[in-house]
Amino acid sequence: MDYVTLGRTGLKVSVAGLGCGGFSRLGLGTGKSRAEAVALVRQALDMGVNLLDTAAMYGTEEVVGEAIKAVPRQSVVIATKAWIPYGGGWRAAERAVASLDASLRRLDTDYVDIFQLHGVAPEAYAEAREVIAPALLQERAKGKLRHLGVTETASDDPEHEMLQRAVEDEMWDVVMVAFHMMHQNARAKIFPRTIANRVGTLLMFAVRNIFSRPERLAAALRELTQRRELPRWLALSRNPLGFLIHEAGASTITEAAYRFARHEPGVDVVLFGTGDPDHLRTNIASLLAPPLPLADRLTLTKLFGRLSGVGLDPPDGMPGPGA
Ligand SMILES: NC(=O)c1ccc[n+]([C@@H]2O[C@H](COP(=O)([O-])OP(=O)(O)OC[C@H]3O[C@@H](n4cnc5c(N)ncnc54)[C@H](OP(=O)(O)O)[C@@H]3O)[C@@H](O)[C@H]2O)c1
Repeated sequence: MDYVTLGRTGLKVSVAGLGCGGFSRLGLGTGKSRAEAVALVRQALDMGVNLLDTAAMYGTEEVVGEAIKAVPRQSVVIATKAWIPYGGGWRAAERAVASLDASLRRLDTDYVDIFQLHGVAPEAYAEAREVIAPALLQERAKGKLRHLGVTETASDDPEHEMLQRAVEDEMWDVVMVAFHMMHQNARAKIFPRTIANRVGTLLMFAVRNIFSRPERLAAALRELTQRRELPRWLALSRNPLGFLIHEAGASTITEAAYRFARHEPGVDVVLFGTGDPDHLRTNIASLLAPPLPLADRLTLTKLFGRLSGVGLDPPDGMPGPGA
């Protein structure tokens, strides 16, 4: 495993972070048992992953709590989240503290390393900053959390409006940002500021559906060519991203997507979500592989560098921030 320092938190974290939400929810979302989900987290820990990202909304905090009993508490970095409906005024602060306390109970731990506000929309940011964050900073003083973070609502905020403000405010030590081969605008809008302000970055959406299910990629390309945002040959091609697959490059599109995200300057941790032990192994190998060849990266940027908001769909039926 490779480790990096997570911005000004000073935490030493694995470049591969296990995402416990998304479509898979450690396998709970795809029909696996709780015991299999616990085993998956332990497999990740055995392979050197030390950052686990969960949320009150995912229903996986208890699994994480059980899995980490196998290792010393200080050897893992636990990130969790609270989703607070917008417009609650002072009640929003109360709800956030209650959510933190409930997460600590489910995780069966005394503190979380990173406590994040989940899916904060641009219009909710002022309340997050002025009402909720001060209450959580008081909880931090009591030792219940080490660092405060915030995650964006990627599908409703593809231009990162909320995060562009958050990265300038000193209370958020960590931000979670969407970035992938066809949604690259964080390169200009977010990473220069997180680097300058030493804000830690957790990357989400590296693969999602679009780079794990060929039919989803094909549908996205059809839509984008119809809107004339991409050349038509991409939608007509049987293997539109086939240029990435060659001996000196990647062996699968999923591998290419993780490698692309991992080596972007400004990215600290790439979250990957899975419920499949084989995918877990191959994804860690992808995240530890070298950057994609320069020519492939240039092609990806030339073709897709101007797109925004592609491939960010939330799982069906998930409320609030989506995943
Ligand atoms: N607003 C927010 O705060 C927010 C929003 C989104 C995500 N997140 C965080 O980011 C994490 C990562 O997002 P994500 O879960 O969508 O992860 P992801 O790594 O971008 O995509 C995972 C999807 O791809 C599949 N997959 C993974 N590896 C594969 C492989 N090698 N071959 C084929 N398919 C593969 C998974 O299914 P299998 O189970 O079959 O592997 C799953 O459906 C989440 O778990 C969550 O912690 C946060």
